[in-house]
Amino acid sequence: MRPRDFLYVTTLLVVILVIWGISTRSPSMKKSSRNIQNFSGAEKATAVPKISQPKCNLPKTCPLDHYAFSLKSGATNNVGPRICFDGKIIMSGVRNNIGKGLNIVLVNAENGTVEDFRHFDMYYGNPDDTLAFLKKIKPGTIVLVASFDDAATKMVDEIRDLFVGFGSSKVKDIKFRDTWVFAGAPGTKIKSPFEKSWLSVMRRPIYMENGHRLLK
Ligand SMILES: *[C@@H]1O[C@H](CO)[C@@H](O)[C@H](O)[C@H]1NC(C)=O
Ligand SMILES: *[C@@H]1O[C@H](CO)[C@@H](O)[C@H](O)[C@H]1NC(C)=O
Repeated sequence: MRPRDFLYVTTLLVVILVIWGISTRSPSMKKSSRNIQNFSGAEKATAVPKISQPKCNLPKTCPLDHYAFSLKSGATNNVGPRICFDGKIIMSGVRNNIGKGLNIVLVNAENGTVEDFRHFDMYYGNPDDTLAFLKKIKPGTIVLVASFDDAATKMVDEIRDLFVGFGSSKVKDIKFRDTWVFAGAPGTKIKSPFEKSWLSVMRRPIYMENGHRLLK
């Protein structure tokens, strides 16, 4: 491993551990873990194990009422982002449905249905298109975001304010070619723990992985 790769893997692990730490501290998550244990025991008695492989390359299987997702930002201007939700790659270079700027997936939080996905060019594009899209997002929707190349130039204050309303605490600081991944939901009163940003000078992709149910 080159030192750079090592640093990268280390960072990834730290992110996972930090997120895991946050999740396990919440009482609802502990409750889910207990339920899943009981559920697994019951399943074993009647055969047919329902709990299978972790989804989206997560290190562990999520508790039953949690969704697995992973977000990877683009790196520099030629390595594309990837958004995986509940075991499916929704947006990626291979799927040929990503673009420079902001890549956004909307999921119905109640049943995990992917309702929409779009990318918005934040350098040449019209911020009104992004605003119109964001303003229509209803409470109870999970919003998954991964940046690619520049996400900041056309990110006007009104767009940033909407992301703050979805639980972002870093979006106000995103500058030209900074990388940013974020998962949130409109109407959340708490700041989302699922967010990471890096300065443009580092120009590395960011991975963020976890399964968590983000609700009203
Ligand atoms: C496990 O489930 C059984 C019934 O399915 C219930 O009686 C028992 O209290 C549960 N145990 C725990 C620890 O929740
Ligand atoms: C999920 O819920 C939405 C709205 O409540 C509904 O329109 C959609 O059909 C549901 N999807 C599935 C797979 O149940």
